[in-house]
Amino acid sequence: MPEEKILIAPDDRVFVLTGAGVSAESGLKTFRDQGGLWEGYRVEEVATPEAWQEDAERVWRFYSMRRRDARKAEPNPAHRALAELEASIGDRFFLCTQNVDNLHERAGSRRLVHMHGELFVSRCEFSAVVPGPGDCTREPFADDALYETGEAIRRCACGGRIRPHIVWFGEIPLEMDRIQREIDRCTAMLVVGTSGAVYPAANFVRWAGPRVRKYYIGPEPPMNAAAFTRVILGKAGEALPGLLQVAG
Ligand code: APR
Repeated sequence: MPEEKILIAPDDRVFVLTGAGVSAESGLKTFRDQGGLWEGYRVEEVATPEAWQEDAERVWRFYSMRRRDARKAEPNPAHRALAELEASIGDRFFLCTQNVDNLHERAGSRRLVHMHGELFVSRCEFSAVVPGPGDCTREPFADDALYETGEAIRRCACGGRIRPHIVWFGEIPLEMDRIQREIDRCTAMLVVGTSGAVYPAANFVRWAGPRVRKYYIGPEPPMNAAAFTRVILGKAGEALPGLLQVAG
């Protein structure tokens, strides 16, 4: 039986949260379906500030591999369906992705934030979102280079090493003020392909008010399934196209 459509009314504001599952059909692996390992690494070995201090070369080898994989990936029908929704409702649309790949942008999304950083951006290890005394003030910059040896790792003018612009475990997600404002004013929330295991993103569905319609789309119920109005089981690239009906 075909899924009942999600109706987007002329006064709706839609907040979308995506996770690794939206890029799965583009060939990029999700994290939690790999037996706790990420390309053969434990998360603590490659995605924490401690890992960077301990072995920056290992960290860059891992992100270089992810850059290599992401370069080859193409947006899938789920990325495109979200870009089409944005094209039809304009600034009533907002997309927050936990993904560090750039497949949403490549599908045409514009009103989006990458709360966990971006794979094709680097920055000085001494820079900060809000620089304090002694912090490096150089902005993050576009970078798709591969750093596969210790010697390849570049240095900033201040002497700091260049690191991936990725929010590691223990670091503060980006753009939280803007995300909170968008959650506060949305009337519908679509959550696609995220396990509901990583906070604060797993709580967005609870931060949204009780009148907000909350939909989850993915092949299995997320850990926070009880907080949704409706859970739609299916692969994002198959379920999303045709699911949304925009009125007006
Ligand atoms: N379509 C939709 N969802 C899918 C698909 C698909 N084709 N394939 C898998 N999924 C779902 C899985 O059912 C799972 O719920 O995607 C989810 C992937 O979960 P995780 O691997 O935990 O990814 P995510 O929730 O995005 O992780 C959050 O954790 O590791 C950190 O910073 C990293 O941003 C990441 C965060």
